Amino acid sequence: MRGARRTAGRRPGDDRRTGRRAGRLNPVAARWRPAVALLATLALLGPVGWLWWSSLLPTPYAVTDMGHVDDGGVPLPGPAGHHAGAAAHGGHGGQAVGGRTVGVDTLRETSTAPPAVSLTLTARRDRIALPTGRVLDGYTLNGTSPGPLIRVRQGDVLQVRLVNADVAEGVTLHWHGVDVPNGDDGTAGVTQDAVPPGGEFVYRFLARDAGTYWYHSHQVADSQVQRGLYGALVVEPRDGPPVRDVVATAHLYDGARLLDGRSPTLAVPAAPGERVRVRVVNTDNGPTSAWVTGAPFRLVAIDGTDVHGPSPVEGRSVPVTAGGRADLEVTVPPGGARVEIGGNAAVVLGAGPGPPPSPRPEQALDPLGYGTPAPLGFDPAAAARTFGYAIGRRPGFLDGVPGLWWTVNGRMWPDVPMFMVAEGEVVRMRISNDSGEVHPMHLHGHHAVVLSRDGVPSTGSPWWVDSLDVADGESYEVALLADNPGVWMDHCHNLTHPSEGLVAHLMYAGVSTPYRVGGPVGNDPE
Ligand code: C2O
Ligand code: CU
Repeated sequence: MRGARRTAGRRPGDDRRTGRRAGRLNPVAARWRPAVALLATLALLGPVGWLWWSSLLPTPYAVTDMGHVDDGGVPLPGPAGHHAGAAAHGGHGGQAVGGRTVGVDTLRETSTAPPAVSLTLTARRDRIALPTGRVLDGYTLNGTSPGPLIRVRQGDVLQVRLVNADVAEGVTLHWHGVDVPNGDDGTAGVTQDAVPPGGEFVYRFLARDAGTYWYHSHQVADSQVQRGLYGALVVEPRDGPPVRDVVATAHLYDGARLLDGRSPTLAVPAAPGERVRVRVVNTDNGPTSAWVTGAPFRLVAIDGTDVHGPSPVEGRSVPVTAGGRADLEVTVPPGGARVEIGGNAAVVLGAGPGPPPSPRPEQALDPLGYGTPAPLGFDPAAAARTFGYAIGRRPGFLDGVPGLWWTVNGRMWPDVPMFMVAEGEVVRMRISNDSGEVHPMHLHGHHAVVLSRDGVPSTGSPWWVDSLDVADGESYEVALLADNPGVWMDHCHNLTHPSEGLVAHLMYAGVSTPYRVGGPVGNDPE
């Protein structure tokens, strides 16, 4: 939370109200007239003052001590259930299974295979020259934004050494959409300390699932990502015929959309009849969409997971959530084709200039009924617990700052739920939104499958997501298998919103974190 660093010197347990009341009421006895005025003022301002006062965040704090335990109404198995249920506020971090807790820093990759791909990424403050002629005060990785495209084969180990040259507030790398071990998740103040200038951190994980992913800083993420601290990661399938693929990261630099940080158009020479998989990555705070001019296409993957039985699509656009990915496969026609992104950027496939651009089709493809069903690998009907994640908005104070802030289940940060699970459980979550804006909800470390939207069940391919647009007035039911122990952020990927309170966490019983938000390191994941 941004504000955590502003409030120095507060600790959990400070008695805020006592100190305040004693100082104000002492003069009352002496002069009753001003006292009446004072009492009237206090009666009016007191509750507001208390709201303000009680919204101040301690620093540093453990995210596991914030908010309230939510076990979905079902006690956790073993001693963890007892403790978790008893903890009202604070101290619910690290309930032990059998009395011991596991620190997230120890939850690292267990494969001992040597890395097939190993590289160093050096983050620095940089001036990014835009094709518009403007210069953005931003960040680069190895001298470019986005950082290098990383390619690794499924089943191989990837090792990335992050070096911070001179980014004063520190940096991390989060592997968006990759279900990495918790200790490699790159969330400042939750799974690691931000890497200070001159420091480094080594991420190392097995690329288990093929797909399109991306990486970005999760320290002061809103500003660092917007200003260029991100890149794309492709995990190529181990089996199957090689398919030509192209990555298009779409990012707004100072309001101008660029593909791969270079230009609004990316020319990809391709022969007629060639099949090309275009991996669209939306690294922005808002949703976009992709469609194809000049040829039919198939939506072959969403958020890194292949769609089962994708049929040809024409005259429809594909929504791409903030943080989300969509892989579009096109067989290049003689006249070439354009994969349009948002209407202001395109990948041009073919030999020549390609067809003229087409406007966004009026209809959007709905993944809820696209493709054909396939096994999920678990039974959502056998869920051990069900959570609600209801997003709203109301006026109040967030770390002492008045505003219209997001709420989760009617409560404002930091009084948000800590969704508690035990390893191996099937979990359902109902995400609903009555806040007036769209929220691209992103859970770290897991993929969830969409069961229904507004009560309408999913009938197509399993729709696996790590980033899900929940529009105002919508509700989704999703399910996931809790198979990756740790403390995981579950937040909105319009990265401005988490700093306005739209964050909760998914936490496994028996896990604790030694890291803190705020404090001397200045950890600030949002
Ligand atoms: Cu792409 Cu919590 O992040
Ligand atoms: Cu949001």
